[in-house]
Amino acid sequence: MTVTVIVGTQWGDEGKGKITDILASDMDMVVRYQGGNNAGHTVVIGDKTFKLHLIPSGIFYDKVLCVIGNGVVIDPSVILDEIGSLQNKGYTAASLRISSQAHVIFPYHKDLDAAQEEKREAGRIGTTCRGIGPCYIDKYNRRGIRISDLYDKKIFREKLEWNINEKSFLLNQFYGMEVKYDIDSLFEQFLTYADAIKKYVVSDSSYLINEYIATKKRILMEGAQGMMLDVDHGTYPFVTSSNPISGGACTGAGIAPNSIDEILGVVKAYVTRVGGGPFPTEIEGGIGEMLRERGHEYGATTGRPRRCGWFDGVVMRHAAQINGLTSLVVTKLDVLDSFESIKVCTAYRYKGKEIKGFPSDIYKLNECEPVYEEILGWREDLSKIKKYEELPLNAKRYLEKLSELAAAPISMVSVGAERTQIIRL
Ligand code: GDP
Ligand code: IMO
Ligand code: MG
Repeated sequence: MTVTVIVGTQWGDEGKGKITDILASDMDMVVRYQGGNNAGHTVVIGDKTFKLHLIPSGIFYDKVLCVIGNGVVIDPSVILDEIGSLQNKGYTAASLRISSQAHVIFPYHKDLDAAQEEKREAGRIGTTCRGIGPCYIDKYNRRGIRISDLYDKKIFREKLEWNINEKSFLLNQFYGMEVKYDIDSLFEQFLTYADAIKKYVVSDSSYLINEYIATKKRILMEGAQGMMLDVDHGTYPFVTSSNPISGGACTGAGIAPNSIDEILGVVKAYVTRVGGGPFPTEIEGGIGEMLRERGHEYGATTGRPRRCGWFDGVVMRHAAQINGLTSLVVTKLDVLDSFESIKVCTAYRYKGKEIKGFPSDIYKLNECEPVYEEILGWREDLSKIKKYEELPLNAKRYLEKLSELAAAPISMVSVGAERTQIIRL
């Protein structure tokens, strides 16, 4: 196996960071292919907890090259902070590589993100306000500033001036914000950042990755966000501005589709969502709060409480199809330990009929109601179990149900946040 892709199959925060860290021990390279510091990937090693926003979760192994691909948007101050905090904890981050083709987030992107949210009023997406959407808009509008531009003062200055003029006009005239950017100081500030990250920047990240593929080295592609936040296949417009799906790994890293061998879907044993937008299996009140407290469901990036709900099999089928999942990694099964019975949504009811496919627009989705099956809980502590055979029968039944809904086998089950709390099948 050469290339393995890890994708979130729900609305993010499925535990991709933990699984990437575990699998990275056998890898030569880990690549982040999309998103930016809207992501928050948690890795727990012993009594130390790390929250990574941009740096791939393979960074804890010196031998693993960690590449931030062309498809990622980068806030240089965030990546420098992240490198600094890893170094403070004894990790050198020397194996980090940053694609020169990645786009740069500027302060005006964050201001635009906040201004757009403010203007949306009741229809707020609930973005992370990290400037992700506006930075991708510039990329697709061909006005973006890439990492490589920072190393040519003339080009950088020209692009920065153009962008500042446009964004100042938009923010002041359309959004009614009083912002003034000092071009000189912003220019200098980003030249300083560019200098600080220079040793990590590679001008040919896709060549580097493809060289690893050609020599049969092992590569893990770490998706950020999740399937349902995909700008094309998620709950548009309540999505992020990139393609977290497995196909996104091809464009975001510059690899061919037929170089991918395995696609692992990270599946939380229940579902969470942070931010606005439809969430058919959401549980309001008691049980939802219980899941939030037991699962510590608070955003790794913004600290916001995550909305919690029952496992959604319609979402699962949709994710299995679009991503081509070869197996599932079920996480946070331990969070369900104390439940007497657990609901699983197997279909939606729309206008009196049961449907199994995920609706293509949110207006139809808003009229859908989940159809549930109930499965008996196991009421046993799973957190120390290391072998599948040792799982209680009802926990196995629950896992079999998830596997059946995805029509894909389960390859790992996670029963705690720590690196070693994993069952391999
Ligand atoms: P990611 O964005 O997909 O990497 O996920 P996050 O790190 O945002 O959220 C997952 C949270 O669940 C983190 O706090 C993890 O430490 C924690 N976690 C991961 N796997 C498990 C598990 O199997 N059990 C429990 N209880 N916590 C887990
Ligand atoms: P990881 O990689 C969960 C959500 C935001 C918001 C929407 C758009 O940790 O799973 P954005 O700032 O991207 O424009 O916000 O997407 N969102 C996430 N939710 N996990 C994430 O990443 C997320 N990244 C963005 O809450 O609803
Ligand atoms: Mg997260």
